[in-house]
Formats: sequence, structure tokens, C-alpha cells
Amino acid sequence: MGIVYQEKSEIFQIHTTNTTYMMGVYAGVHLQHLYYGRKLTDPNCAYLFPRKETPAVLHSMKRGGVDFFGTMPFEYPAFGTGDFRGTALTVRSQGGHRICSLAYEGYKITDGKPRIPGLPATFGDNAQTLEVFLREEALNLKVILRYSVFDDSDAILRSTTVVNEGQEKVYLENVLSACIDMPNESYELTTLHGTWARERNMVKRPVMPGKFTVDSVAGRTSHENHPFMMVTSPGATQKQGDAYGINLVYSGNFLAQAELGHLDNLRLTIGVNPEGFEWPLSPGERFDTPEAVLVYSAEGIGSMTRTFHNLYRNHLIRSPYLHRERPILINNWEATYFDFNEEKLVAIAREAKSVGIEMLVMDDGWFGHRNNDESSLGDWFVNPEKLPGGLKQLAERINGEGLKFGIWLEPEMVSPDSELYRKHPDWAIQVPGREITMGRHQYVLDLTRQEVCDYLFDSIASILHSANIEYVKWDMNRSLTDIGSAGLDSVCMGQFYHRYVLGLYSLQERLVQEFPDLLLENCAGGGGRFDPGMLYYSPQIWTSDNMDPIQRLLIQEGTALVYPLSTMGAHVCVANNHCNGRVTPLHTRAHVAMAGTFGYELDITKMSQEERTQCAQFNAKHHQYSHINREGDYYRIASARENGVYDCWQVVGRGQTEFLLTYVQVRFESRSKRLQLRLEGLQADALYRLSGTEQVYSGDALMKAGYPMDMLWGDNNSVLLHFEKLPEEAGKE
Ligand code: GLA
Repeated sequence: MGIVYQEKSEIFQIHTTNTTYMMGVYAGVHLQHLYYGRKLTDPNCAYLFPRKETPAVLHSMKRGGVDFFGTMPFEYPAFGTGDFRGTALTVRSQGGHRICSLAYEGYKITDGKPRIPGLPATFGDNAQTLEVFLREEALNLKVILRYSVFDDSDAILRSTTVVNEGQEKVYLENVLSACIDMPNESYELTTLHGTWARERNMVKRPVMPGKFTVDSVAGRTSHENHPFMMVTSPGATQKQGDAYGINLVYSGNFLAQAELGHLDNLRLTIGVNPEGFEWPLSPGERFDTPEAVLVYSAEGIGSMTRTFHNLYRNHLIRSPYLHRERPILINNWEATYFDFNEEKLVAIAREAKSVGIEMLVMDDGWFGHRNNDESSLGDWFVNPEKLPGGLKQLAERINGEGLKFGIWLEPEMVSPDSELYRKHPDWAIQVPGREITMGRHQYVLDLTRQEVCDYLFDSIASILHSANIEYVKWDMNRSLTDIGSAGLDSVCMGQFYHRYVLGLYSLQERLVQEFPDLLLENCAGGGGRFDPGMLYYSPQIWTSDNMDPIQRLLIQEGTALVYPLSTMGAHVCVANNHCNGRVTPLHTRAHVAMAGTFGYELDITKMSQEERTQCAQFNAKHHQYSHINREGDYYRIASARENGVYDCWQVVGRGQTEFLLTYVQVRFESRSKRLQLRLEGLQADALYRLSGTEQVYSGDALMKAGYPMDMLWGDNNSVLLHFEKLPEEAGKE
């Protein structure tokens, strides 16, 4: 690790263990991006500078005699003075002009990493931070570009702060977190897309001229798009080629854009979505962007993935459960939907206990008079018809059966049919005089208002203090629309979306401070808000409402491209699956769920004895192996998305002394030879025994020749294998 400023050439070099990021000051004024890639050992890189492209049009000749604004690789491009690509900063002055000309002013290198006020971000002592100061002279704005590195990570963390040091109020219309201008090398672009029950599927296409945008205006990260882009060299694989990943630590409206310019220059930008955004900045005020995470790998996609996983485990997720075994839970949602009572839950708990399940989670429908999704959100008090003894009695009875107890909440919402809405109709997001757009029969509460957040915190805190509740599933089942707030005046309405996210973060911050041992799982109609911002508060997030293991292969492959396995909420469901009717063997459902946090979402009282016996075996296996998934290195061996037949991933435990191999065959195909699955991340000179057998393989052979996988019988079949390293003397003659 090391951040270096070379005074003579005015170049900044940011080094991680394997990568270098470089920028320089051109003509004493313009901060240019020079390089991002493999680590450079030669400090004499001035020849790279300035990166000057052929001008297509002549632009501003002032300020350094620059005639190539349209193609210059800017470190932080601003709108209005001749860069016609997507820019990172647009400022409107009192006069209504949108001109921003950023000039280099200075820099500071410090140990550590400052917090971003009000926003989740990576943290840790073993960091170094570079701040580069730019100034917009006419408006007297200071722009601080921040770059941090940790000594145990190849990631580079970026954020931007704009400070108004002038005399007049300005309006930020766009202020992104990061931009990378790089030469295109026939790159391909991968993004994550989907919908409800099909979140974060990987989609790859060539980088084409023009702009390609993924974004959200839903007020949450969304099921449809994801704040992540990956650019890879042609033909890059898990093990080979260049992979650049960029991710945003944010849970609201975002924009991620890849723009291929007319001279084959590629610009990647990421940040808060400028659509619907406007931030008035009075003299003396500052605006801080969310953090962007940049990862480059010269050794293929797999290594990029592992850098993200380790960064998030070591520097983002704060929960004490991060390194703890999570209780195997059973959730009653698909078992009962709204139709349950205390007796039913206790009956489920009793059966669950007998197979080794450790926690019962009571899902939606326990409060107000909620018997369907049309009422009672906001009325966070028990429905006495379902739970006559209240939460305390229920928790005691569940605890009495030997299980922990958790509950579902949807704090951000209010049903029109609720006491809360009748009392505080103005607390719902709305524009006076307009009918509020309904989503799942509910409105969204205005988290930009302190009194709303205070009410929610007090309600949640009193529930959690009232009984032994050790887990909360925090749901959020609709997007934001009809943006309007009684708490904001009209010039501030463009702040709404971002202020909503800040309100949400402050609420969850208070919650985790007040209940440090609470296991929090975020959720948004399945996986509609699965992002690094939420991981700062909860160590796990519900990945998708779709638990069909075959659909989950795609969802979990896309999710695990960026996020550690330990963050993926995953349960065993019934067959026929409730989202798509697919029938799959119980063991396949379990093997796929074991890649995540593991639990059940079915009525165990209706399972046969044989199935229950199987569940007991899965639970025992999970206890044996969960530390590998939680702490280990993830390798994607094969993808059913690509080959149509089988999916395979491997997780190597710390110290390479054991590993798990999961193989899921989605389609039986007659073929003569076995598969040879080439494994990764093993000690070449070690011997590994397949658990439960006497079969021994060398790490070298497994990685080069592969593990022989016989075709399994039928479709949707799977195996989960565990290998253990033999003591060193075992291999010797
Ligand atoms: C969302 C969640 C589900 C369940 C329901 C309850 O859809 O993703 O798991 O909790 O809400 O209404």
C-alpha cells in the first residue's frame, strides 16, 4: 500500500498490493486520469502524461491552452466548459448558469480513513487517504476528491465532497462519486438485472459507442438494476484477463454509466442519480457523496470477486454476527402466509426443534388487524386474536421449545387502513391535492422528517424491549413515488430521495447501537435493496423471494459476483415452489440454500418423517461447514447460465485445509465422459480426502486435471462435497 505524490511530474500514484491508480496535473490546472491497472513498479511514469487525444472539435483555449476537452481523460469532469460526455458535476448558480471549471489546487495525504457524515462506508485503521483539492473559482466551490486504500485490500475507495466557500447559494444538480476515464480495449460490460423473484442476473454485452446506463429512480436500489458495473477484457474468464468492478455503497437512486466516446475512450461513472436530484448548497455548507468501490484484477473475474468479498467482510459489515454462526431459522411466511396464531407457531417451533432448527421467525401479519396485505402497516402492536399473550408470551413459549425468536417488521410503510395513517396522514410521502399512488395497498412514510424517524425508532425499540426478540427482518415492499414532503420547502424537494436514504440510515444506525446483539436481516420485497449500504447495518440481506434452487442459481451467481456468501439470505422452500411451481429434490433445495445463510421457509409439521430426517442431516452438515462459506474464498467453477447443464462453485476454507464443492445439474444429458471440474485455490502439494470416503486427491491434480464428476441421475440433482487436507506426513512414502 502506498500513496505517492511525485512533485516534479505532478503525478499521484495510488498503490495497492497488486494494482496502481494514477492521475496527474496537466498544465498546473487539469487533473487527468492517467492509468488504472496492474501494479507499476517504475516510478518514472511521466511519459504517460499528459494523455492527449486528437481533438475532434476545438474548445476552450484558455486555462492551460487546452484544446481537447471533449476527449481529455478527466479525473472528475464537470459540465459546462466543453466536455460533452456524461460529467460528474453540474452546478447551477443563482444566475441560472451551469458552468463549472475545476482547477487543481493541492492535495493532502493522511493515515487512516475519514468517515463520510451520515453515510455508510468502509472503515479500518490500516488505511491511507489522499485528498485532492479542486476549485471552481468563479463560484468559489471547493471540490475534494478522496481516495483511500487499506493495506490488506486491492480496492480503492472514492468519494467526493463539495464545499461552498463562496458568498452565494448554488444548486448541485449532479454530483457523482467517481469517474474513471480509460482507453477502451474492446471491453465487455457486465451488469446485474432482474425483477421481483429474479434479481441480479448477470448480463454481458460489448461496450458500444454511446452511453449505457443502469440506474434506479425507485428510491431504493431496486430489483431491476444494480449499482455495479464490471468491465472485462475480451474473453476474460474467472482466472484470466482484466476485470474492473465498480460498486456504490448506497441504497437509493443511483446511476452507473459506461460511455464509449468517439475516439474509443471509455468513461465509467457512478453515484447518486441526478434524475430528480437537486441539492441547494448555501455558503459554508458541504455535500458528501456516497462511497464508490473500485476493484481491478489482472487475474480474471474470480480475483475481482474475492477482493470485493474480503473488503466487505473486513471493512464494511459491522455486525457481531459477521464471524458468528447464524442460527438456522424457520420462517413461517410461505408456511402460513397471514393465517397463523400462537398455537400454530409453537407447533412449527416444536417440530423444527426436533430436526435441529434454532430460531423461529414470525413473518408478516402479527400486528394491528392484518390478515392480508391491505391493512395495519404502522400499527406495530400485536393482534390479540392471533397472539393472545402478546409477543412476550409467544417469545417465552418459542424459547421454551428451545428456539430463539425473531420477527418481521416493515417500518418504512403505512397502510391507509391503519391507526397511524388516520392520526398522521401527512406522514405519508405525498403531494398535497394529488391522490397518492398505491403500491401493495400501502404508502411510504416520510423518513426525511425527524418526528417520523423518532416515532419509528420508539415503536421498534419498545417492541424489541418487550420480549426476547433476537432477530428482525426489516422489509420494504414498495418503491417511492409522488415525491413530496410536508417537512421540506419547495426549493428543497430535489433533496428528498437522498434525505430519505439518510433518514433510513440514521434509523438503522440507532437500532444497531441500541440493540448491538440483534441479528438484523434487511429485505425489500425479496432482494430489492441488496447493496453495500445496507450491509453496513445488517450482515445478511434477503436475496430473493424466489427460493426455487434452479432460479436461485442465477440469482446467487450474480449476487455472489460482488457480495460474500455470508450475506445472502437463503432458505429451503417446498416443491412446488411458490414463485414458479418448479419441483426439485429436497437435497438440491438444501444444497443451494447452504451457500447462503441457510434456513427453512415451509410448514415443517406437514413434512414426512423421511423429509424431516433429511432436514436433520442438512442441519448437521450446515453446522459442520458453515464456517467455510462464511470465512472462505469463493471460486465460481462453472455456470449453468453459460453452459445450460450444470452449475458449480467451490469455497476454500481459511488456510486451505478444507473446501466445499457444490455441483448442481439442472439438466441430465447423456454423454460418454465424466466432467473434469478444475478446482482452484488449493495447496498444490497437499493431499485432500473426500469426506466420508477413502478417496484422496492431490491439490495439484485437482487444479490441473480436475475433480471427476459423474453425471447425476435426472434433472435438478445436486451434490455437496467436503474435502479435508491430510496431515503433511500422510503423503510421504
Ligand atoms: C416481502 C418479503 C417476504 C415476506 C413478505 C411479507 O415480500 O420479501 O419474504 O416477508 O414481504 O409480506
